[in-house]
Amino acid sequence: MTVPIDASPLAGRRVLLIVGGGIAAVKAPDLIRRLRERGAAVRCVLTQAGHEFTTPLALSSLSEDRVFTDLFDLTDESEMGHIQLSRQADIVLVAPATANLMGRMAAGMAPDLAATLLLATDKPVMLAPAMNVRMWLHPATQRNLALLQGDGVMVVGPNEGNMACGEFGPGRMAEPLEIVAALEAHFGPRPLQGLRALVTSGPTHEPIDPVRYIANRSSGKQGHAIAAALARAGAKTVLVSGPTSQPDPAGVEVRRIETARQMLDACEAALPADIAVCAAAVADWRVATEAGEKLKKEKGGGPPGLAFAENPDILATLSGRAEARPGLVIGFAAETEKVIEHAVAKRQRKGCDWILANDVSPATGTFGGDNNSVTLISAGEPDTWPPLSKQQVAERLVQRIALHLGRT
Ligand code: CTP
Repeated sequence: MTVPIDASPLAGRRVLLIVGGGIAAVKAPDLIRRLRERGAAVRCVLTQAGHEFTTPLALSSLSEDRVFTDLFDLTDESEMGHIQLSRQADIVLVAPATANLMGRMAAGMAPDLAATLLLATDKPVMLAPAMNVRMWLHPATQRNLALLQGDGVMVVGPNEGNMACGEFGPGRMAEPLEIVAALEAHFGPRPLQGLRALVTSGPTHEPIDPVRYIANRSSGKQGHAIAAALARAGAKTVLVSGPTSQPDPAGVEVRRIETARQMLDACEAALPADIAVCAAAVADWRVATEAGEKLKKEKGGGPPGLAFAENPDILATLSGRAEARPGLVIGFAAETEKVIEHAVAKRQRKGCDWILANDVSPATGTFGGDNNSVTLISAGEPDTWPPLSKQQVAERLVQRIALHLGRT
């Protein structure tokens, strides 16, 4: 999300930043810098373990404020008490949030200053978790995460990638600019507040037998980015997603499915909705002869013959509903030639309100890539957008939706 720095919703906000003990604490100075250049005031609390990775001096130089480090500083009447410290912020941000700190929060324990502040605060809390992939995926951490989210704690990240410990997977702290974007979204205008949105994303998997399936190369990046942007704009958003490696977007209810028919059922179960965006690359065909047991090679038998059946068209089904049709139904048209012509015809054929036409010919790198070249086809003139990142396409689409619904 690109928010002009001088117009950031963070201007004038007070962020209490708790820096936990993990290698990602080295990103804290950059995070403070990014927050401050958007006009936020940052006050830091450094945990005991955080001292191993960054220093109070680094944090205080960038925040231009003193850094609080342990409970005993605050027992003196002349010092600011921890209750006050936790209340004087507009938001409490924990970055990095370690498994240990999340566990303490989930259990309501307060053995040190950071945990005490988190227990004593009446302000919104956002976590940027960072830990080893096994620790993140451990049922205890996932249980704590669910408890914390149930308590209203917001979470940004973690991202997937190579980790300092040499492993690969989810557990890397979100980048400072992603954390900034999440905070801006929290404080920013929410034009779609009170509306419900439904988004499909990712590929579908159509089984051949219990171990094999037919799929496609959709990454789910565009659909997930749209769901995240709708949620940031205040819409209560359900994301029905085929198998992808995208992390669940913050503030979005995710329903995971595998096949096109499951996707349709999940979409219908999520109605009513004011806005539906079908970004999934749904398999047009499923294997009609799905085998109950693994297909075996039979000597001299040759490869098995597969018969196909047509899958339901989710976009057309939602668009054609007599009852509970979402007020604004938006589809995508992935085309490799005559992009606008095909997309205009597709909009008519499917009965949706808008189509985002995108050129997915291999030279564009759109499928699986980070960027998208899009033309918005509505009842009016086609509107071609400049090449944008998938995040920016999502933001622009949400702006157009808000405009169309008179919500700006
Ligand atoms: N779509 C859907 N259900 C299907 C097929 C497609 O909801 N069974 C939706 C997609 O999510 C997208 C739009 O329809 O929003 C167009 O998808 P696309 O693959 O471009 O079109 P198809 O209907 O598959 O048409 P064709 O393959 O002939 O271009």
